[in-house]
Amino acid sequence: MAEFLGSWKRTQYCAQPGESEVGKELTLMGWAGTWRNLGALIFIGLRDRTGVMQVVFDASTLPADVFEKAESIRSEYVIAVKGTLARRTPEMVNPNMPTGAFELLAKELKILSVSQTPPFYIQDDVDTQEQLRLKYRYPDLRRPVMQQRLRLRHEVAKITRDYFAEQGFLEVETPMLQKSTPEGARDYLVPSRVKPGTFYALPQSPQIFKQLLMLSGCDRYMQIARCFRDEDLRADRQPEFTQIDLEMSFVDVDDVIAVNEGFLKRLFKEVLNVDVQLPIQRMKWIDAMNRYGSDKPDTRFGMELVDVSDVVKDCEFGVFTSAVQNGGSVRCINVKGGVEHFPRKKIDELSEFVKTYKAKGLAWMSMKPEGMQCSFAKFLTEEQIKTIQEKAGAETNDLIFFVADQNEVVWAALGALRLEIAKRLDMLDPNQFNFLWVVEFPQFEWSEEENRFMAMHHPFTSPMEEDVQYLFTDPARVRAKAYDIVLNGNEIGGGSIRIHSAELQEKMFEALGFTQEQAWARFGFLMGAFKFGPPPHGGLAYGLDRLVMLMCNAASIRDVIAFPKVQTASCLMSGAPDTVDEKQLHELHIALALEEEKE
Ligand code: AMO
Ligand code: AMP
Repeated sequence: MAEFLGSWKRTQYCAQPGESEVGKELTLMGWAGTWRNLGALIFIGLRDRTGVMQVVFDASTLPADVFEKAESIRSEYVIAVKGTLARRTPEMVNPNMPTGAFELLAKELKILSVSQTPPFYIQDDVDTQEQLRLKYRYPDLRRPVMQQRLRLRHEVAKITRDYFAEQGFLEVETPMLQKSTPEGARDYLVPSRVKPGTFYALPQSPQIFKQLLMLSGCDRYMQIARCFRDEDLRADRQPEFTQIDLEMSFVDVDDVIAVNEGFLKRLFKEVLNVDVQLPIQRMKWIDAMNRYGSDKPDTRFGMELVDVSDVVKDCEFGVFTSAVQNGGSVRCINVKGGVEHFPRKKIDELSEFVKTYKAKGLAWMSMKPEGMQCSFAKFLTEEQIKTIQEKAGAETNDLIFFVADQNEVVWAALGALRLEIAKRLDMLDPNQFNFLWVVEFPQFEWSEEENRFMAMHHPFTSPMEEDVQYLFTDPARVRAKAYDIVLNGNEIGGGSIRIHSAELQEKMFEALGFTQEQAWARFGFLMGAFKFGPPPHGGLAYGLDRLVMLMCNAASIRDVIAFPKVQTASCLMSGAPDTVDEKQLHELHIALALEEEKE
C-alpha cells in the first residue's frame, strides 16, 4: 500500500547534499533506481531530477520492520528516506557520480508508491526502441539525459525572454484559432460549432498577426509560439513545434541580423559556454548553392563544389555535353584521400545514393598512386583531364565525383553527397558550432506541381528594391530581402523584411498568380490593414526545437520535446488522433465520408 507523506518534508534534492551536510539528518525522496541486496546491507540509488544519492539500509542498526520494508523495494518504487549523511569509505568513493563521496545511512523509510517493472531500464544508454520509449514517455523522461534536455530547453526559453525583453521586445500572444490562409504547408483545421460548415485553422506561424502588431504600433514583438503544420515528418520536423518568433518596426536586414547575433552570442555563452564569433559570416544564396549545393550549408568542412562545365562542354562525353547544352552544368567535389575509403563497390553505393536526388549517375576520377583511373577518361583529352584536376585541386589519393544535369539536380545531388561522405569519414565535429547567414534568397521558386511561381519564403517578403522591376518580366531574377540562420547545416531560423506597401503587396499576389478576388478573399484583412499606415518592418523565427536539438547534440527533435509525435503524426502514449463520439460530430455538423472514400 502506498503510504501518505504525513508530516514528512523533503529537506533536499537527491544530488544536493555535500560536505556541509555530513552528520546531519536529511529527508530525501525520489525513485529507487539501481538496488543491490547483499543480505544484511541494501544499497539503493535514490534518483530525482537532480541526480542520485546512494542510500544504505543496514540490518544491524535498523529495526526489523524498517529493514523488511526496505527489502520489498523494487525498481522505480517511490520512496522517502530519513537518515544521516555520511562520507563513504575511500575505497567506496565513486568518482563518476557527483554525490559519489557520500551516502545516506537510512533510519526511517516510507514507500510512497509501488511500480510495475518498467518496460526498460531508466539509464542514459538505454538500448530500447524509440517506439517503446514514446509509449512509456514518463519513465523515459526520468532518464538523466532527458532531464538535462528538458532543463536546457527551459534555460533557452528563459534566456530568450530575458534577452528580447532587455532589447525592448514585448511578448504578445496571437490567436491559435485563425483564418486559414494556405500558402506553405497544409493547415490543421478546427470545425466551428456555431457557424456550421466553417473552420478555423491552427497557426502555421504567427506571421500575419505579428505584422499586424507592427501596424498596431507595438514596435518590437516576440513570442515563444506553438505552430502547426500538416506536413510529412522527418527527424527535424514535427506537426506541432515551437518558434521563437519576433518582429521589429523601422528596420532593414542589417538591424534584424544585429539583434539576432546578440541573441545567439548570449545564448550560446550562457548555456554552453561557447563563444560565437561576431559578425556571423553572410553568404548569398547563389554562392551557397554554387559552393555547397545547399541553401543551408554545413561549413564545418570544405569539399566545395567545383564547376567544370567550361572544361567539358566540348568533350566527347555525351552525358556532360548534353547537360551543358541544355542549360545545366557539370560539377564535382574532390574527396581528399578518398581513394583509400571508396573502392569500386563503395562508389557504386554512392551512385545509388545520388540517384535518390534525381541524378542520373555519378562519374568519378580516382587519383590512384599507381595511375589515374576515371569512368569517362576515354572521352576527354589529356589537357581537359589536367585542367579538371587543377580546378578541383586534386592530388595523389584524391577521389573526384561528378554530376551532370540541370543545376538544381547537380546542387542537390552533390550537396547531399558531400554531407554523406563527411558523415562516413567522420569529418563532422560535434563540438564545433558554425553559424552562417544565408541572404538574398530568390523571391520565387518554380513549382512543377502547381505550374506557377511560388513564394520561396512567404508572400509577405519584400523583394530587393533594385529587383522590383523584374516582378513580372523576369520573376526568376527577383531576389528577396530574406535571410536564414544556419547552424552546422541546419536551418535554425528564417525571416525577412516585409512588404509594407499595400500596392506592392497586391502586385506580389498578382505575380504569384492570385486574382484580385482570390487575394482579397484570403489575405484581405492584411491588405485592408495595409491601407492604415504600415511601418517598414521585418523579423525572423527560430525553430526552438531544432535549436535545442543542436545545442544538446540530440539526433532528433523528438528528443527535446517532452511529448512528441511520431511519423504518422500520432502520439503513441495517448493514442491521439482518435475517433470521437457521434454526438460530438453531430454538434459540429460533421458527417464522415470514410466509407465513400474507400469505394
Ligand atoms: P519558417 O517557415 O522558415 O518561417 O519557420 C521558421 C523556423 O521554424 C522551424 N520549423 C520547424 N521546426 C520543427 N518542425 C517543423 N515542422 C518546422 N517547420 C519550420 C525551422 C524554421 O527555420 N513566419 C516565418 C518566419 C518569419 O518570416 O519571420 C516562418 O514561419 O527552424
Ligand atoms: P551511362 O551512359 O548511363 O551508361 O553512364 C555512363 C557513366 O556515366 C556511369 O558511370 C554513370 O554513373 C555516369 N553518369 C551517367 N549519367 C551521369 C550524370 N548525369 N552525371 C554524372 N555521371 C553520370
